[in-house]
Amino acid sequence: MKKAGLYIHIPFCKVKCVYCDFYSITKKEDQIPLFTECLLKEIDNYKHYAGKWEFNTIFFGGGTPSLLPAKYLEKILQKLHNTFDTSKVKEITLEANPGEAPLEHLKDIKNLGVNRLSMGFQSFDDKILKILGRLHKSDDCFKTFKNARKAGFDNISTDMIFNIPKLSTDNWKKDLNKLLDLGPNHISAYSLTVEPSTKLFHLVKRKEVLMPLESTDIEQFLLTEDILLKHGFYHYEISNYAKKGMESKHNLHYWNLSPYLSFGPSAHSYDLKKRWWNVKSLEKYINLLSKNKSPVDNKELLSRHDNFNEIILNGLRLKRGIKLSDLNNYNDLISKDSLNKINNKWDCLSISNKNIKLIDNGFLFVDEITKDLFI
Ligand SMILES: C[S@@+](CC[C@H](N)C(=O)[O-])C[C@H]1O[C@@H](n2cnc3c(N)ncnc32)[C@H](O)[C@@H]1O
Ligand code: SF4
Repeated sequence: MKKAGLYIHIPFCKVKCVYCDFYSITKKEDQIPLFTECLLKEIDNYKHYAGKWEFNTIFFGGGTPSLLPAKYLEKILQKLHNTFDTSKVKEITLEANPGEAPLEHLKDIKNLGVNRLSMGFQSFDDKILKILGRLHKSDDCFKTFKNARKAGFDNISTDMIFNIPKLSTDNWKKDLNKLLDLGPNHISAYSLTVEPSTKLFHLVKRKEVLMPLESTDIEQFLLTEDILLKHGFYHYEISNYAKKGMESKHNLHYWNLSPYLSFGPSAHSYDLKKRWWNVKSLEKYINLLSKNKSPVDNKELLSRHDNFNEIILNGLRLKRGIKLSDLNNYNDLISKDSLNKINNKWDCLSISNKNIKLIDNGFLFVDEITKDLFI
């Protein structure tokens, strides 16, 4: 049976970080009880999916899921367990913000069965954290990490960001070394992107903030890979590094194009044939579900072309590359000739009889090579 994931979007945040494009809202925590009731209703609407796939991951993302009191998390988990067969679930992840998840809360979360924490450190430099508009300070990262270990979490992922204005490569190196001293099991290291409709976008547009040069971005990406590989991490996806066996099973569902059901405002779902997504507004989400209406905003049926391009897009971001067996049904869409041409153009692209993958510094050219392979 096809393996699949379950995702819950928790939209509450204490502050809105300047770079963040994820759907989240501040000062609405009084809505948590009503939001949870609506979420339970929404999950109920998907009970016909029980038995369709083997659900083996649950992910609480946001927003800031660690803001949800344990009794609400418990209700949501209970609903998932009662609605779907979760006996094969191996990984339950929750995103926790440094300084916003005290020890007692972490213990409660652990007792509910959450077995993986994802912490958004971003940086250990208070000045950089301020530029990003983060609420926490560097010290909070260390405290929350240690508390998470105390609470019994043996699978902790940490998010870091490079390519930030005013972040020198020397300071990025210091941050990575501090992170390695803590010893997380998984590291996501993202290059800062300027997303439309964020505060950062307007700051950059008005030239009040200057983004680093592309050469700095590349330098920091390569440094990250170099340092983390030397410390026993496996670079399994363009922005993700794991100790042996500690890859994010849930995120691998996205990259492997496995199905997933997602709940909450703005959440996107995928069933192999189509994608659909919910309204990007807590208010609308609550209004619709309170009237027993669907919160789905829109859907997109995927054509064969779309499916082919998605296999390329996601596969190239993975170290293992695109499995040729995944392209078996699309032989009419891409000829051996055109593949050979693209292969000759890119030294960092390797095509064997098993897969198409990037080698050497190929991740640096992923966007261009993806475009070349798209149909
Ligand atoms: C769902 S988000 C945030 C989860 C959590 N609330 C937090 O802030 O840590 C997951 C991660 O995406 C990364 N991220 C978000 N926006 C980004 C951007 N514009 N550029 C690079 N990384 C970004 C951050 O590292 C963040 O921790
Ligand atoms: S980065 Fe995290 S804490 Fe900041 S606004 Fe986005 S979801 Fe909220």
